[in-house]
Amino acid sequence: MAQMRARTDNNELMQNTLAVTCGPMAFDTHSVREAWDLAADGYAQGQASGRDYYRYEFFGPAHADLCGDVRGRRLLDVGCGSGYFTREMAARGAQATGVDISPRMIALANERETAAALDAADLSHAFAPRSFDIATSCLALQDMPQPLNVFRSVHAMLRRGGRFVASIEHPCTNPPFRAWERDAHGRKRWLCIDRYFERGPREYTWTRWPGAFTTMANHAPLEDWFGWILEAGFQIRTVREPRPQASAIQARPALMDATRLPYFLMFDLVTAGTCGDSAAPERSAP
Ligand SMILES: C[S@@+](CC[C@H](N)C(=O)[O-])C[C@H]1O[C@@H](n2cnc3c(N)ncnc32)[C@H](O)[C@@H]1O
Repeated sequence: MAQMRARTDNNELMQNTLAVTCGPMAFDTHSVREAWDLAADGYAQGQASGRDYYRYEFFGPAHADLCGDVRGRRLLDVGCGSGYFTREMAARGAQATGVDISPRMIALANERETAAALDAADLSHAFAPRSFDIATSCLALQDMPQPLNVFRSVHAMLRRGGRFVASIEHPCTNPPFRAWERDAHGRKRWLCIDRYFERGPREYTWTRWPGAFTTMANHAPLEDWFGWILEAGFQIRTVREPRPQASAIQARPALMDATRLPYFLMFDLVTAGTCGDSAAPERSAP
């Protein structure tokens, strides 16, 4: 049965971004590349407009802070899209390279950053093992069809003690069924969620962004995410469920919503057996 709802109506800006769950659908390298190629221009324009304050004033800074001091580090941004987070990292002094499966996204990213069109599930033909000090992925892993292979492939690219700092949509507040119960004035009373263990891809139509477009994303419960992380050989340094800063809420009162429930989940991972030396990762040679 088809069901429609917001991709993240946790994000006020996306309240009219409709998701349609309609049973089996293609969710593989080919279909994902094609979908994001078609989405790329609208997605990049929507971001460039600056109206996505959830990104700019909330989860983007929280993700960047979790990365810490990246000056001089060789950094790989996985699923970089048109390069928003890659540029953030470069601005903080990293030697940043982005990769994304969509050639159109890469063309847009390359207007301002170094980026390459690659499937993150297989990076070995593009980079030598242990080429990077740190990897990042900003809200992209849930959009990738082979998450375990992506974690493995990123692990292989990291030097000993290298970190992978990634953010995803929080699976607990973004399962296949999700709807706000509202009072007579339309105010949010509580969030109703269901079907948390119903794994699999869903299709989203982004109606509020320039030129409506459709993409796919995978829902997986927390046990799957932690299973992939550990199976790929990572250890977990920390996990964060960020909340907006008071100053951000003051500027954007709608962000208050995100103080009630965890909308995003951030992992700080390190290649296994190296927790000890990861707290103060080596800097690349100056
Ligand atoms: C929601 S966008 C996020 C882009 C960017 N990180 C940002 O914050 O704007 C998800 C991105 O993941 C990319 N992607 C999906 N599957 C991928 C894969 N297997 N390898 C690399 N990139 C992939 C898509 O092309 C898309 O650009």
